Amino acid sequence: MIVENVEKAAKLSLSRIDYSAELKGLSDQEKKVFVQRLEQNFAGLFTLYHQIYGAQYDFFYHLQQLVLVLASGYKSRSAALKKLDLERQKNPHWYLSEDMLGMACYVDLFAGDLKKLRQRIPYLKQLGITYLHLMPLYSSPEGDSDGGYAVSDYRKVDPKLGSTKDLKALAQELDKAGISLVLDFVFNHTSDEHEWAKLAKSGDEKYQQFYYMFNERHKVDAYEQHLREIFPQVRRGNFSCNEETQTWVWTTFNSFQWDLNYSNPEVFNAITDEMLYLANLGCGGLRLDALAFIWKELGTNCENQPKAHALIQAFNACLKISAPAVVFKSEAIVHPDEVNKYIAPEECQLSYNPLLMALLWNSLATRKTRLLTASMQKSFSIDPHCAWVNYVRCHDDIGWTFDDAVAGQLGINGHDHRYFLNQFYVDRFEGSFAKGVAFQENPSNGDCRVCGSLASLAGLEKALESGDEHAIQTAIDRILLLHSVILSIGGIPLLFSGDELGLLNDYSYEQDNSKAHDARWVNRIALTDQDIEAAQDSSTVSHRILQGISQMVQIRKSLPVFGVARTEILESGNQHVFVYKRINEHGDELLALVNFSEYAQSVNSQYLYQGEGKTYRDLLADNAEQKVNCWLNLEPYQVMWLKLE
Ligand code: GLC
Ligand code: GLC
Repeated sequence: MIVENVEKAAKLSLSRIDYSAELKGLSDQEKKVFVQRLEQNFAGLFTLYHQIYGAQYDFFYHLQQLVLVLASGYKSRSAALKKLDLERQKNPHWYLSEDMLGMACYVDLFAGDLKKLRQRIPYLKQLGITYLHLMPLYSSPEGDSDGGYAVSDYRKVDPKLGSTKDLKALAQELDKAGISLVLDFVFNHTSDEHEWAKLAKSGDEKYQQFYYMFNERHKVDAYEQHLREIFPQVRRGNFSCNEETQTWVWTTFNSFQWDLNYSNPEVFNAITDEMLYLANLGCGGLRLDALAFIWKELGTNCENQPKAHALIQAFNACLKISAPAVVFKSEAIVHPDEVNKYIAPEECQLSYNPLLMALLWNSLATRKTRLLTASMQKSFSIDPHCAWVNYVRCHDDIGWTFDDAVAGQLGINGHDHRYFLNQFYVDRFEGSFAKGVAFQENPSNGDCRVCGSLASLAGLEKALESGDEHAIQTAIDRILLLHSVILSIGGIPLLFSGDELGLLNDYSYEQDNSKAHDARWVNRIALTDQDIEAAQDSSTVSHRILQGISQMVQIRKSLPVFGVARTEILESGNQHVFVYKRINEHGDELLALVNFSEYAQSVNSQYLYQGEGKTYRDLLADNAEQKVNCWLNLEPYQVMWLKLE
């Protein structure tokens, strides 16, 4: 079926869909707002939906069902959220502000449960947090649930953490404190205990079509030929045999995480319904978990497929119609060129920046910044209405996702270099400061990834063991250096709870049967009241780290050049020093210099500024104004934020 005039076809289709019953009970004004948004966004949604499902004989039926879902999702939205929708439409790029600062945490590890989390809001406020990502908190299987990423019911909060009521109350309180809630949208898979999976297991054909279930092994093998393995230590391959139905089920991650079948429009519609439910809980952002994997195409590696993009854009169009206050954050931990393709105002407005994350660690290990500079020059620039979410550590492992071609141009062999980085960070390399744990070593190709808390990877664990004050200070310097970059390079800085206090690896997961096989738990660390109190005491290491981070946060929030501005990645003329500039439309300029080595380094400022005779001041050192045209001398691991006066 070819649609020649999409606008016309969309209009006609919409006129044939009666969704009035879905809106019953709303005020005329509310109805008007919905109809307007639907009409505005429908042609876009129609085009995408048609691109994905147009070849199916019952396309129109599913389209009609989708509109009903959108209308009822809008109807369930609270008055307060509808007000937020209108506000955000006036200020759609709120996330670009210098005021933004994110934090990610597990509800139980950070506070115990949702009620207790409310008592930690003052702590978050003091840190300056404006965006809080709560790791998945939905009902999920007992024991191993991949840290909650196996969802059994999107509409039910894990009873150990509280109830839906608690979550809504928390969202409201966070909002009052100026903090947007970010929730996970785990839409690539459900747990095998989700109602849909249970029905599929019981033989219900409709729900068997919700997943990828195969009776014949040769079909599985045809796909398998082209796929990589994500968790090769837990299970080889991408399929799990389901005992009940004697079929092979597609499970990219763990065997209890069943991949959803998006070639079935019913899945799209059902997940849209769940998505709007989450949006209506009161979140400002949804984190699109594992989005690279959502479309499967025989003969490809089934990652980053064009239809994955079409699907995400279609979901985004649905949000624009029913819950426009919500933005998407992409979690694509793939090749940098593919990461960038998810970033667009009509797809994901926000995206994790795994390349920056990995290369910061690379530069700490090698003390060199060439790969970081070249990679950022190639990949940092994105649509000005979108934002990177820059982070140093998260709840997952570190994968070395740099572009081999960029490395190759610098004479770096990607494969060998990754091997070195793994050895370095899991402490198998002599002289390494890091203490990490290997994750998912692949027995067939020797690949592995790295786990560990930020502080342990940055050398604090070893330094504290040795009691050497110089080593401790150096580790603190590394921690602050890493944070300085995410706080200033452009985008939303995202802290991982506990890193602000320099919490070390927690090895207790080794004693827990449901966790022992998953080394990522080493960097998922509980934050106790004692930890927070200790940081008040100026003699503690955590105090020094928190102070350093807080100082930078305050500076960030006080200057617009950290907000809406352009980033230029510069050549410093010194291979140990990473340099970038921020420039905004008012002509404000900020130059950041970062020394990744344990030796003092100099950079000729002539490389960095045109315009002789200008003066600048280092915001991090409070020193007097200095003139450009001189050598800038950096202490070991020193960072400078030079503001042109
Ligand atoms: C994402 C999560 C990770 C999880 C995976 C499967 O990558 O960050 O923790 O294992 O998705 O849901
Ligand atoms: C892989 C996936 C990524 C996920 C991670 C979990 O790297 O690409 O999505 O976060 O595995 O370990």
